Amino acid sequence: MKIDKQAPIGVFDSGVGGLTVAREIMRNLPNEKIVYFGDTARVPYGTKSKATVLRYSRQIVRFLRTQEVKAIVVACNTATALALDDIEKELDIPIVGVVRPGARVAVETTRNKRIGVIGTEATINSHIYRTYIQNMDPEVSVFGKPCPLFVSLVEEGWIKDPITEAVARRYLAELQEKDIDTLILGCTHYPLLRSMVGRIMGEGVTLVNPAYETAQALKRLLREQGLTSDGTEDEEFPYRFFVSDAAEKFSRFATSILPYNVERTQQIDIEKY
Ligand code: DGL
Repeated sequence: MKIDKQAPIGVFDSGVGGLTVAREIMRNLPNEKIVYFGDTARVPYGTKSKATVLRYSRQIVRFLRTQEVKAIVVACNTATALALDDIEKELDIPIVGVVRPGARVAVETTRNKRIGVIGTEATINSHIYRTYIQNMDPEVSVFGKPCPLFVSLVEEGWIKDPITEAVARRYLAELQEKDIDTLILGCTHYPLLRSMVGRIMGEGVTLVNPAYETAQALKRLLREQGLTSDGTEDEEFPYRFFVSDAAEKFSRFATSILPYNVERTQQIDIEKY
């Protein structure tokens, strides 16, 4: 199959969190167009089963294919953990998840071979980060900690709030005792709490942001496959946004974190796909 290198990248997440990944793609691959889908009607994925997250992810991929994307980024740690392997086998275009790029950089970063991972319950219980990390270096110990409340706190906009700080201190206390020198922010929302988490963990712990690493991995992948857009097309709307519910709320949140004014988000019925 011939893939059009000028086609957009499909990016999807369970909701707004994947915008942290879209933001890194915008910053690091400015010539690429994006079609973003946020499954705002069915968020959160982090508390759901593999069967459900896989069904949702397959529907979203079918929708993104209707937008003629040239590659797909699973901008959700939970969907990557529970659905990427299956979807990859069914696709004839490249697909990248957020877990492998984050795991790889964490392995390159750690000096004492002790890495912490924070994420949703589904991501941590899947042990996906541990599996990738120990495949790369079996000597590394991995300590996971689910931090489910972070998602709601970020969506509430309580990013610099004392309540969020108290929650973070409580979640992170366990990891502070593990002598880790590297911590993976293994959920899309957590890069927005980066400075708070960094302050609590202290200077001796390097934070890994899979969103940034995923954009770098996408850049390499497009280059290797000859799919890098040359950005010659003069697009009025290089970034298009679709959600399964509450489009206006999504547009406001997106505009607050992206280097782009999201004027319009289209609501679609994802169950049709
Ligand atoms: N996007 C999800 C993740 O990165 C967090 C929100 C959810 O639970 O759906 O795991």
